[in-house]
Amino acid sequence: MITLSIDAARVQRELAALAAFTTPGSRGITRRLPSPAYREARAWLATLMADAGLAVRVDPAGNLIGRRDGGDAAGPVLLVGSHSDTVIDGGAYDGALGVLGAVEAARALRAAGIALRHPLEVVDFLSEEVSDFGPSAIGSRAMAGTLQVEWVARRSPAGVSLGEAMREMGGIPERVKEAARPRGHLAAYLELHIEQGPQLERSGVQVGVVQGIAGIRRYQATVEGQPDHAGTTPMDMRKDALAGAAEIVLMIERLCRIAGSPMVGTVGQMTLAPNVSNVIPGLAELTFEVRGPDEERIAPLCQSILEEAAALAEARGLTWRCESSGFVPPVAAAPLIVNAIEEVSRRRGYSTMRLYSGAGHDGSHIAGIAP
Ligand code: CO
Repeated sequence: MITLSIDAARVQRELAALAAFTTPGSRGITRRLPSPAYREARAWLATLMADAGLAVRVDPAGNLIGRRDGGDAAGPVLLVGSHSDTVIDGGAYDGALGVLGAVEAARALRAAGIALRHPLEVVDFLSEEVSDFGPSAIGSRAMAGTLQVEWVARRSPAGVSLGEAMREMGGIPERVKEAARPRGHLAAYLELHIEQGPQLERSGVQVGVVQGIAGIRRYQATVEGQPDHAGTTPMDMRKDALAGAAEIVLMIERLCRIAGSPMVGTVGQMTLAPNVSNVIPGLAELTFEVRGPDEERIAPLCQSILEEAAALAEARGLTWRCESSGFVPPVAAAPLIVNAIEEVSRRRGYSTMRLYSGAGHDGSHIAGIAP
């Protein structure tokens, strides 16, 4: 058994170097598509990949790829990586760790003189975060073949089209379909990512082994009552939309707690009308979402929420309307990879726990074409 050595201090230095590429004036780290900070970070990463002995290219969708050939040159590719774009005022690790970790793995293989059977490709997917053009995970959707070709014409609020932004990052938008990899082209995809949550720290565990990426159901709902004078309407004659909505919010929290971890549900947004201090709220609009690892748990929880909300509204004489506003299916991680991570962690003396990813990732899309 060969043991590869990772130079953790070098990865730390490179994380700091990558974090220095940020849009001036931002409070955290900001690399958006398109921006000079993102473009310059990409150029730096391309040099890093080349120095690691990887053959560097940008695919038509603007994904930066560094390749190390395998013994079987035409064999299925092991794809490892993440994304180097960020949210506005983001952090130094989301995405960056996965890209730099993959480069380090390639360097470790080279230093140990190991020839793999499979080609290894290190990828920095284009614009994983929700973009100014609407969709998230632009590069991984393109690779999975699910990017709608019409999307390249979409314009950001700044008036730039997605195609123009892609071209600026080295892509060829009119050939974006060619970035799609057929099923079977990739042997496996692996993404190292920070948890973005508190469970590992709370448990004192070093490695979270991701069993899957949560699915999301989103809803847009309206509670309608009657806007009356706050001083002249007796308590027993009111149709207070906010009081009804508040009961619904607490009911959603209660049902999601009862459903138990890893199920989660959130009312993240509410607007009131008329929203003035001396009028009983006549209308409350709210969005809520439920996330979980499988549809067998998500669907019945949503069903209970919808039934209870209707009953709570009715008991107060309020009108309840609700429609689905989005669905992202859950994705299961391949047991082969889950087991390999646990086995390697055990061998290296790292503690592990199984987790679901509550956040979306490029892996959610690549799962459609590879383990
Ligand atoms: Co990420």
